[in-house]
Amino acid sequence: MKRMLSGIKPTGQLTLGNYIGALKNFVSYQDDYEMIVFIANLHCITEYQDPADLRKNLTDAVALYLACGLDPQKSIIFLQTDVHAHAELGYIMACNTYLGELNRMTQFKDKAAKGEKNMTAGLYTYPCLMAADIILYDADYVPVGDDQKQHVELTRDLTQRFNNKYGETFVVPQPLIAKVGARIMSLSDPSKKMSKSDETNKGCIYLLDDLSLARKKIMSAVTDSLGIIQLDKENQPGLYNLIEIASSLSGRTMEDIVKEFEGQGYGKLKAYVADVVCAELEKIQARYKEIIESHKIEEVLKDGALKASAIADKKMEDVKKKIGLEIKY
Ligand code: TYM
Repeated sequence: MKRMLSGIKPTGQLTLGNYIGALKNFVSYQDDYEMIVFIANLHCITEYQDPADLRKNLTDAVALYLACGLDPQKSIIFLQTDVHAHAELGYIMACNTYLGELNRMTQFKDKAAKGEKNMTAGLYTYPCLMAADIILYDADYVPVGDDQKQHVELTRDLTQRFNNKYGETFVVPQPLIAKVGARIMSLSDPSKKMSKSDETNKGCIYLLDDLSLARKKIMSAVTDSLGIIQLDKENQPGLYNLIEIASSLSGRTMEDIVKEFEGQGYGKLKAYVADVVCAELEKIQARYKEIIESHKIEEVLKDGALKASAIADKKMEDVKKKIGLEIKY
């Protein structure tokens, strides 16, 4: 069975973008792949997080993994810091990464271009840790949204470099990006990705949003003045995004949805999208509540950490041997 690995960085509450672009796919793959999913808590602290908020976001993220359908009987679910090998291999990968490669990473470049002050070294070397996350487990595939593709591609380069220098050690992973829903856009500005750090709080739907608030955000989503329901991503990005959201969640094709609403006003289409989204959120939130009340998170993480460490620690032994870091005594 091929192995798949992915993670989410809960620097805030998980979003509909995380669900459609990543989490929902993890759930559907867990029957056919050996699935490893972790909470990327080390990645969260590349920028300061209030400790109490971070703890709550991490706990909620695990509960949401389970609420969305990740099954600890089928998937290994764990917290990154419970497996020490991530930080260790992250450092080793940083020693095999060129500054030029990190300078080209768009997430870093965009922040630097905006003139963001006090960017940390952790933010800069983040892709090295992400590479370590993946190759520690010899993952064949990495299901991610479109924005993470560049990081997985860098991981491939770093893996090949390591294997060439030290001998065959790691599997070279492949990114797996869904055809629909790989980049869900902000509802208030469809030129931007829907993101956890949405300042307006209008563009992003969080999985734990009140249903009435989620509906309101969709009903007031920015569209265009053309007034025609069709698939024109370039000229009608807001409308396209809404149809893509509904298609991802309902399993209907985007064309099929267009056909149903052709010739009608945007209000009717938005109401349909809101129905589809709210039905999904309602199911997730009901399960989330049960999971939080059941206190089973700790047990899931303990078990996941044991299983993940067994794989990762073995790999680290091999890595240290290959590099010449260990002394036999
Ligand atoms: P993060 O936490 O930003 O996002 C988690 C996953 O959600 C996807 N995603 C989206 N997909 C579609 N539309 C959106 N608007 C949207 N927003 C987010 C992301 O593409 C991602 O798949 N560096 C990673 C976490 C990470 C990781 C890893 C992932 C750390 N180590 C190893 C895979 C493998 C991150 O910050 O994702």
